[in-house]
Amino acid sequence: MKKSLIYQGKAKSVYQTDNSNEVVIEYRDDATAFNGVKKEALKDKGHVNNLFNAYIMQKLEERGVKTHFIKVLSETESLMKKLQMIPVECVVRNYAAGGICKRLGLEKGMKFERPVFEFFLKDDALGDPMINTSHILTFNWAAPEEIKYMRKVTFTVNDILSKLFDDAGLLLVDYKLEFGRFNGALLLGDEFSPDGCRLWDKQTKDVFDKDRFRQDLGDVVGHYKTVAKRIGLTLI
Ligand code: CDP
Repeated sequence: MKKSLIYQGKAKSVYQTDNSNEVVIEYRDDATAFNGVKKEALKDKGHVNNLFNAYIMQKLEERGVKTHFIKVLSETESLMKKLQMIPVECVVRNYAAGGICKRLGLEKGMKFERPVFEFFLKDDALGDPMINTSHILTFNWAAPEEIKYMRKVTFTVNDILSKLFDDAGLLLVDYKLEFGRFNGALLLGDEFSPDGCRLWDKQTKDVFDKDRFRQDLGDVVGHYKTVAKRIGLTLI
């Protein structure tokens, strides 16, 4: 397959294929945190995240969530539908961690009676500020039906994945999703991997996600691999 680089993100590269409706996403070993200030290569992360994302996207498709995922191509590459990305991040939180603790003065680990939903603007230069639906409409980042759809699907994903991780002895603390347009309809895009969510052991509250990298807790990829194993994913 002929491919040419069209976008290089912090941890993934996107390549155009012969088919203008499809792209190859390559998961690299690069890890970044604090808006790119902390940077490192973590051996095997690209491989683990590629297969982790494929596994989760397939589970979501089985439950009726429409995603951009088509198939795994290699250890570190998958074929996806080419999306026109909506520049917002959809975050759902089941427990208090990260940004919301600081912002609202909450104790880390507090369980929310109902999940919290937040929008952030995808803008590295601005540090991904929190926004609301009024901003999204005023600045034409998405249409009213698209806002409704992203919110609904992000909560549906919460039901599916909270159960999946719970069965593996893990708490899905929070996560971030991104959506994009394909032939006029929205699909779930980007990725779902331990890079974009928080996962804690149900009993010990041990951290199994990117906070291991952010907080220098060590053996980041080893923990990602443990999560993969616990949810029933065999790494090739
Ligand atoms: O990660 P941080 O504490 O700065 O932000 P947060 O708002 O607490 O993040 C909520 C969830 O979204 C966490 O699982 C983050 O890993 C994820 N997130 C992400 O994947 N990418 C971002 N640009 C921001 C948050």
